[in-house]
Amino acid sequence: MAVWTVYLSLCLLIALSASGLEPGKDYKVNWEAKSLHFDCYPEAGSDQAKCEARGCIWEPSGIPNAPWCYYAETHGYVTSNIVETASGITVDIERNTDFPSQRSQSRDISKLRVEITFLSGKSLRWKIFDPANARFEVPVPLELPSTPETEENNRLYRVQIQNKPFGIQVIRKSSEEIIWDSAVPGFTFSDQFLQISTRLPSNYVYGVGETEHPSYNHDLNFHTYGLFAKDQPPGYKLNSYGLHPFHMGLEKSKNAHGVLLLNSNAMDVTFLPTPALTYRTIGGILDFYMVMGPTPEAVVQQYTEIIGRPVLPAYWSLGFQLCRYGYANDAEIADLYNDMKAAKIPYDVQYSDIEYMERQMDFTLDKENFKGLPALVDSMRAEGMRFIFILDPAIAANETKGSYPAFDTGIEKDVFIKWPPKLSDDIVWGKVWPDYPDITVDNSLDWDTQVKLFRAFVAFPDFFKKSTAEWWGEQIKDYYNNVMKFDGLWIDMNEPASFVHGTVGEKCLGDQTLENPPYMPPLESSHRGLNHKTMCMNSEQILEDGTRVKHYDVHNLYGLSHTKPTYDALLSTTGKRGVVITRSTYPSSGRWAGHWLGDNYSRWDQLLKSIVGMMEFSIFGIPYTGADICGFFNPAEYEMCLRWMQLGAFYPFSRNHNTINMPRQDPVAWGSEFAAVSRDVLNIRYTLLPYLNTLMYEAHAHGNTVVRPLLHEFVTDENTWKIDRQFLWGPALLITPALDPGVTVVRGYVPNARWYDYHTGEAVGVRGQFVDMETPLWKINLHVRGGHILPWQKAENNTHYSRLNPLGLLVALDDGGSAHGSLFWDDGEGIDTVQNKRFLLTTFTVSSGVLTSVVPTDGLAEADRLTLGLVKVWGVSPRVTRVTLSVTGQPDADLPFTYNAEVQELQIDATSQSHTIEKPFTISWNEA
Ligand code: GLC
Repeated sequence: MAVWTVYLSLCLLIALSASGLEPGKDYKVNWEAKSLHFDCYPEAGSDQAKCEARGCIWEPSGIPNAPWCYYAETHGYVTSNIVETASGITVDIERNTDFPSQRSQSRDISKLRVEITFLSGKSLRWKIFDPANARFEVPVPLELPSTPETEENNRLYRVQIQNKPFGIQVIRKSSEEIIWDSAVPGFTFSDQFLQISTRLPSNYVYGVGETEHPSYNHDLNFHTYGLFAKDQPPGYKLNSYGLHPFHMGLEKSKNAHGVLLLNSNAMDVTFLPTPALTYRTIGGILDFYMVMGPTPEAVVQQYTEIIGRPVLPAYWSLGFQLCRYGYANDAEIADLYNDMKAAKIPYDVQYSDIEYMERQMDFTLDKENFKGLPALVDSMRAEGMRFIFILDPAIAANETKGSYPAFDTGIEKDVFIKWPPKLSDDIVWGKVWPDYPDITVDNSLDWDTQVKLFRAFVAFPDFFKKSTAEWWGEQIKDYYNNVMKFDGLWIDMNEPASFVHGTVGEKCLGDQTLENPPYMPPLESSHRGLNHKTMCMNSEQILEDGTRVKHYDVHNLYGLSHTKPTYDALLSTTGKRGVVITRSTYPSSGRWAGHWLGDNYSRWDQLLKSIVGMMEFSIFGIPYTGADICGFFNPAEYEMCLRWMQLGAFYPFSRNHNTINMPRQDPVAWGSEFAAVSRDVLNIRYTLLPYLNTLMYEAHAHGNTVVRPLLHEFVTDENTWKIDRQFLWGPALLITPALDPGVTVVRGYVPNARWYDYHTGEAVGVRGQFVDMETPLWKINLHVRGGHILPWQKAENNTHYSRLNPLGLLVALDDGGSAHGSLFWDDGEGIDTVQNKRFLLTTFTVSSGVLTSVVPTDGLAEADRLTLGLVKVWGVSPRVTRVTLSVTGQPDADLPFTYNAEVQELQIDATSQSHTIEKPFTISWNEA
């Protein structure tokens, strides 16, 4: 309790000092009351008259950002007719007409139905909708339990309905805490403005995206984030590429829950010091899903059970990757590859950005500068390397000379987004990259002039349509078969981004309230309308079942709709699972793709923000993430890029990427010292890939996080609740990067467990404390948690070769001399290997000097088998005199070993036995 009081008092002090008021008792009393004030006038330009016209209360406040216009206590809806059954509750509610309409241009919907469903013992849904007229509902299939949990005793929660104002309260039975409480003023449901607030059970809230956040746990001092998919580089309060209205909250009882608002309209979310949060959306219905945890990991497992578990990426995609926008030609890529090889820096994936295409048109090849690319791809692939190419959704339309099959067949199959038929039968034309044929872009002109003069018209495919998915798949297959091979695809600009606003000519047809709605969330350039840098909101899309929908409602689903067809096409074309990276995401995108954090900057602050971003995508169910290492915009600088290589070596998606016309920033661009540091840290990554891959499997199979916030492992320790300068890989590897210029020491938390320094194998000796860790330029601090066993392999130039090495084990003993771990292993790129059980799962346990393996699943083909290599055991205190390997049906074999008494490390070399690990084994070391 004390912590909460201290926190509130601190907030109060900060607020008072900023407002110039003197801290004192009276203000404290005021503050408590004010914390229940919900903003009745979130738009700019409020004044007393406008506030009172909404039936709200005007009261200037000295607290920064606190609302001066707030709702009266009973504002909202009133409850009538509550029906409770074993599987849920239905409630009819009606608008309290004591208060005037909130927005005259947005028609009130006065009678609503509330449907609460007890989905399972650990999850529930509440849906608030207009029972008289169907409204748009998000067409994303969720995986919900087939029958609700009708047994009260099996449910972790209880639900209460409050009247005047109407509100839902969800109570965690074990602690009697109210963890959702919307019985607060302000509930509104009108055609284009829907608002609901809830109290939060604590000040610790995480998630809600996609927006760059300065810290992982939210600052609750009245911060509003506008959310709408946009080609918008991450920046403070700027809405970026995707939409994730999902948050995880901690409770005073140290339990955790998660809440999804399944709505795909433009929206905003405000965090309040009450603590509380407010959602405002401009369409659809209010459809909430809550998962009860009770641990943070369980929250993500339960959330991904509903939205779909993340895809298992190909093993090679866990290797290091190199990209830039603006390679001059294929020779530049070949040189880079050769330099990386010569420097012995591990790397698996080379990209080519839009420059490989002819005038940036999908499914073409620049036959001048990149004519050697197909042959280069073949020769690099023959050496175990992989290629990923970019594809943008927009298709060029102005090819007068000859034909452009992608466009021509798209027209034939009617795949492009058009106006509603009653307005026009034309395509909604935009402009993106492609240049006009035969016109050379004059780069000395400003961007807007270039767009006007040189960019061709483009059409946007409607990926909801089955015919579009088929057409897209055919283009991908033809390219692979007839132009060049690839292993993965990178889909970009799928917000969708356009360089003109709305359409060419910038006049959107039809209903202008869709372009400039009565309530506009605080989005980047919202004064320019929702179609700023994208297509008109009145454009029409057609769902698979034939339903016609407005882009207004499905804009935030464009990236998701693009992702599955791309992934399906990749699989059917290559016959392998490969990987897809997408820029725009929505809940469930993780089922098909990973995500990079977009067009970041070569700036120090971006290192920390990339950790926050990865943690958020971890809880959004998209574990395969990372930021552009060394930054996209602006020239990188030596030390920053080096520290970023060290941090990025621990991004699940580890790619150095740079924009056009910037100096090189790849690891061989900076001289031999830089190359050596990059090689060392990537060797560590490659050594630990069997562990990372096992974590990816656990994400895919069970919904566990890969990049894991410390609070997921140590939730009872409040110190971990705010930590975002450090992160874990799974439960066992603690990463403490240097994030600031000139540092030689980083301060990091050592959670309450036994930890070992990865570089030396020595036990750390402290726990549950912040400590200073030496971080000379060559070093990133890494610690292994006692009690865990990490599978590893010796690093090689790429994973094709490292996968052939024997399997090592790193055993970090806990205080009691025990440890456990597991290994997932398959062929690395087969389709559906998990579903078809074509993999090996081995678990390892150590207790009292005996390492035992158990094999729950042995579906591995013979060719993919692994032999046992070096086993390192940390924390072995007494001297060891003999080590033996036992396998059923074979005589015990003595194994060579070394023991280092200084660091208490036992190294056992099993290589000579050629023991393949699908056969269970035991290794015992007797301790003298
Ligand atoms: C977008 C992408 C960036 C890419 C560029 C050119 O800005 O976010 O990664 O390099 O387009 O395709």
